[in-house]
This record gives sequence, C-alpha cells and structure tokens, in this order.
Amino acid sequence: MDRLTFVSLLCLVAATTVARAEDPYLFFTWNVTYGTISPLGVPQQGILINGQFPGPNINSTSNNNIVINVFNFLDEPFLFTCAARPNPQGSYHYGQINITRTIKLVNSATKLNGKLRYAINGVSHLNSETPLKLAEYFGAADKVFKYNVISDDPKEVNLVTVESNVLNVTFRTFVEIILENHEKSIQSWHLDGYSFFAVA
Ligand SMILES: *[C@@H]1O[C@H](CO)[C@@H](O)[C@H](O)[C@H]1NC(C)=O
Ligand SMILES: *[C@@H]1O[C@H](CO)[C@@H](O)[C@H](O)[C@H]1NC(C)=O
Ligand SMILES: *[C@@H]1O[C@H](CO)[C@@H](O)[C@H](O)[C@H]1NC(C)=O
Ligand SMILES: *[C@@H]1O[C@H](CO)[C@@H](O)[C@H](O)[C@H]1NC(C)=O
Repeated sequence: MDRLTFVSLLCLVAATTVARAEDPYLFFTWNVTYGTISPLGVPQQGILINGQFPGPNINSTSNNNIVINVFNFLDEPFLFTCAARPNPQGSYHYGQINITRTIKLVNSATKLNGKLRYAINGVSHLNSETPLKLAEYFGAADKVFKYNVISDDPKEVNLVTVESNVLNVTFRTFVEIILENHEKSIQSWHLDGYSFFAVA
C-alpha cells in the first residue's frame, strides 16, 4: 500500500469559488487503476476510474459542491483537469445572458527573429518561470507579468511581442469571445482558465 496516494479534490462547479452554505455537496470515491481498453479496436493499457473507461459521469447542477476522493493505484502521478461548465440549455439561456464585455481574439503567425511565432492580438504567450497564479497569490504579480497587454479589439496583430498574455476579467460576468482567424489554415483553440468556463 506504500504507493497509495490520497488526493482530495474539491471541484466547484459553475464558475464560483465561493461555496454557499445551502448548495448541496456530492461525494465520490474514485479508484484510479491501469486496465486494458480498446478505444481504437486494439487492446492497450489505459487508465480506468472505478474499473471504467471513460470514467464515471457526475450528475450535478450549478453550484453543487463536488468532493472527490481520488485513490491513485498507478505507479506514477496522475493529473485531473476539471472542465465543468454550466449547462447552456439548463441554467443559462442564450439571448438572456447579459454580456458585459466582448473580447476579440485574433490569431496570427509571424516570423520574429527568424522564428515562427503564433500570437493572439499581437502577443505570443511566454510562460513565466514563476507560475502566474502563484505570483498573484504572493502579491508579486507585478514582478512577473503585466495584466491586459492585449486590447479587446486589436487593430494591429502582425507586430508581435513575446510576453505572458494575461487578461483581467471580472468574476461571474459573461464575456463574449470572438475568435478571428485571418490565416489560411484552420486553427484549433483550447479555452480554459482559472474560474473560467466556456458555455458555448
Ligand atoms: C476503492 O479501493 C478500495 C481499496 O481497495 C476499496 O475498499 C473500495 O471499495 C474501492 N472503491 C471503489 C468505488 O471501487
Ligand atoms: C441527475 O440528477 C437529477 C436530480 O437529482 C435527477 O432528476 C436525474 O434523474 C439524474 N440523472 C441521472 C442520469 O442520473
Ligand atoms: C439581464 O439584465 C436584465 C435587465 O437588467 C435582467 O432583467 C435579467 O434578469 C438579466 N439576465 C440575467 C440572465 O441575469
Ligand atoms: C481587474 O479589473 C478590476 C475592474 O477593472 C479592477 O478593480 C482590479 O483591480 C483589476 N485587478 C488587477 C489584478 O489588475
């Protein structure tokens, strides 16, 4: 049992980091093990949760507090990402959402010092040595990065700088994000963030 690690995960669904006392708690235990799966038709080693692949569903609603006790039976560390989001057909209805800000994200590909740089609104993101949220937590954000280096409605996206690209967006607001691609190839986007949930 020496390899058994215990991780307690408190995952707050639906864009809130403040748990209200009246919101119900749901408790789960997940045993993470290796097992044989055949997602591509060929048996291979995979990671199972409670013997299942894909893992179990969590049936919950907005503001539920979800506590998951994760027992890692693997011989390696294991990372979960939490992609919870409000259900657009349930809690939120399109057309009734009051959008407080519109951010246009324009991607570009530019050669900078001979190197191809992909950028958003003229900024090619650079991960800082200190993790961004850690810098914020210790009140040292100003020593590590600048907020809002990009504009919500960029005019010039081909002059590219390389720096951490961090936006300050007000908690619990609905922001419309327009993805604009002037390149000749398809771009795939991955949207996630700290207390940020995509609803469409
Ligand atoms: C998880 O593993 C523990 C220890 O082997 C076992 O007691 C428990 O029943 C398992 N739970 C589930 C949901 O499989
Ligand atoms: C999910 O939970 C709701 C509310 O408790 C219940 O009405 C519904 O039947 C559940 N759905 C599933 C698939 O378990
Ligand atoms: C949007 O704003 C209107 C007017 O203030 C209000 O009546 C409505 O409830 C708001 N909608 C949401 C989803 O908060
Ligand atoms: C983020 O923006 C809000 C609203 O403009 C402001 O009050 C707050 O100080 C900003 N926070 C940071 C860390 O810049």
